[in-house]
Amino acid sequence: MKIAILPGDGIGPEITAQAVKVLKALGESFEMESAEVGGAGYAAHGHPLPEKTLALAKAADAVLFGAVGDYQYDSLARALRPEQAILGLRKELGLFANLRPAILYPELAGASTLKPEVVSGLDILIIRELTGDIYFGKPRGVRECPDGPFAGQREGFDTMRYAEGEIRRIAHVAFQAARKRGSRVTSVDKANVLETFQFWRDIVTEVHKDYQDVELEHMYVDNAAMQLVRAPKKFDVIVTGNMFGDILSDAAAMLTGSIGMLPSASLDAGNKGLYEPSHGSAPDIAGKGVANPLATILSAAMMLRFSLGKAEQADRIENAVKAVLAQGLRTPDIFEEGTTRVGTEQMGDAVVNALA
Ligand code: IPM
Ligand code: MN
Repeated sequence: MKIAILPGDGIGPEITAQAVKVLKALGESFEMESAEVGGAGYAAHGHPLPEKTLALAKAADAVLFGAVGDYQYDSLARALRPEQAILGLRKELGLFANLRPAILYPELAGASTLKPEVVSGLDILIIRELTGDIYFGKPRGVRECPDGPFAGQREGFDTMRYAEGEIRRIAHVAFQAARKRGSRVTSVDKANVLETFQFWRDIVTEVHKDYQDVELEHMYVDNAAMQLVRAPKKFDVIVTGNMFGDILSDAAAMLTGSIGMLPSASLDAGNKGLYEPSHGSAPDIAGKGVANPLATILSAAMMLRFSLGKAEQADRIENAVKAVLAQGLRTPDIFEEGTTRVGTEQMGDAVVNALA
């Protein structure tokens, strides 16, 4: 089995190195090959998603991705910016289903900004559609404003759109995931304002006919944002479009105290997937050896489960992470009085030791 390792920028290389170390310690014979991506891809080959990197990702059974983005690339033209690498990979590999679990580990209950009683035991799964919506809709750009009080000025514009088949397939993913959990799906939209999301609501309702054992609720995105901080435990599976999912998943991540703990999977229609921490490249702490590698290590566990057919090894990693948290080891992002502060590498080593 072949794994493409794409460390990227900022803390990406440090955290992926820990996940690779953990994967190697499993004693399986994975073939792992690395390539530059994001700002590192631009620096080495003049493009954030170099051809060689894309080819490696396409040929692999799964991709382990770090993070992309760094200050020095902020002024590049949009097509050359690091973010284009992850957007390009999602599109080119057909990774339409983004699974972002938000789980509060009991040991970290105090790290949340919300009261423990509001978040303790939190276990929700956000399923974000990842290759459609206003992120990819065309036309887009800057043009001359055709009408209204600002006619004749320049205007920026993007296009929000969802094809029926795109909505159907992500709805199926959500209902099937719900069956393995709490059997409840909340579909988040803005059907009161947007045509695209009235259509979304109609199609999700149709797909639901095949899943009468799963409870479906529709919720407007503004209300969903409020409910996420008011009573997040009421949710089981949330399914939504690309942009709403981007925003809500950051909010959900923070409920758990640290975005440094949360893995994600981006899946195609088969077994292929790209696995990345839910957090970004954090250039402000890059190279300092303080980044939390657990989200990436947990992403490797998701990779074993969803793409490599190694559920037992995934369990081993997840249990090892729980064990190091129980030992009181914490990187600075989740450090609290009474725990032991460790760096990125020490945390990786601790997980390796806990595997046994
Ligand atoms: C994410 C990120 C990306 C997104 C950026 C880096 C393009 O915020 O994975 O959530 O908006 O999808
Ligand atoms: Mn995001």
